[in-house]
Amino acid sequence: MFYIAGYKQKTMSALPDTSTFKTVHFSATTITELMIPSYSNFGGKIHGGILLSLMDKVAYVCAAKHAGNYCVTASIDTVDFLQPVEVGDLVSLMASVNYVGNTSLVVGIRVISENIKTNIIKHTNTSYFTMVARDEQNKPAQIPGLILENRTHVRRFIEAKRRKEIKQNYKHEVDEIAVPDGFDECEQLLTGERVILINN
Ligand SMILES: CC(C)(COP(=O)(O)OP(=O)(O)OC[C@H]1O[C@@H](n2cnc3c(N)ncnc32)[C@H](O)[C@@H]1OP(=O)(O)O)[C@@H](O)C(=O)NCCC(=O)NCCS
Repeated sequence: MFYIAGYKQKTMSALPDTSTFKTVHFSATTITELMIPSYSNFGGKIHGGILLSLMDKVAYVCAAKHAGNYCVTASIDTVDFLQPVEVGDLVSLMASVNYVGNTSLVVGIRVISENIKTNIIKHTNTSYFTMVARDEQNKPAQIPGLILENRTHVRRFIEAKRRKEIKQNYKHEVDEIAVPDGFDECEQLLTGERVILINN
């Protein structure tokens, strides 16, 4: 028994073609990597860029498996490093499709690091990568629909949809940021900031 959102009251003949739809499980991917000394920064912790690169890789595998096509990274929704990762830790990146649009999808990634001597596990970050599928001619390609099999899948899909809406509103607001031409107006806006303003 399955239910297609928005089609409860309609006849089977009115249903969209769902034969290409895929489960979340189909493309769920985990990459695990040992943090070696060459990955460290001057402070002896793992470089943020190493983790970002691993996140991009796992997002690609997950997205390309679902899409059945090559995918490119369109945007990354917030990367906050909650805790440092140490040399010698085993980092695991767990990725699954949270949302599908028309030619884009959102991969949610949870990153954890494990101290292999103490077995203490830390959650280092959770991020969302928007990936766009490309066809053989490098044009955007349609993504198969997603089969949501449990409450977690439904929650993640709705959260991703809402984040997308919030991001669109945020983009409109950012596009409208205007800096005044006049020195006095700028001075007023910079009141309280740790700057010296020179009028020349
Ligand atoms: C991302 C990219 C494919 C978008 O191409 P585009 O022709 O502008 O695409 P469109 O505006 O037609 O949008 C296509 C889809 O991508 C989504 N999209 C585009 N830019 C986006 C962004 N910044 N954030 C989230 N989604 C985005 C759109 O919402 C749309 O989704 P939908 O089809 O599911 O509704 C294009 O800008 C690109 O190739 N960028 C470079 C990607 C890359 O090289 N990544 C690696 C970084 S080094």
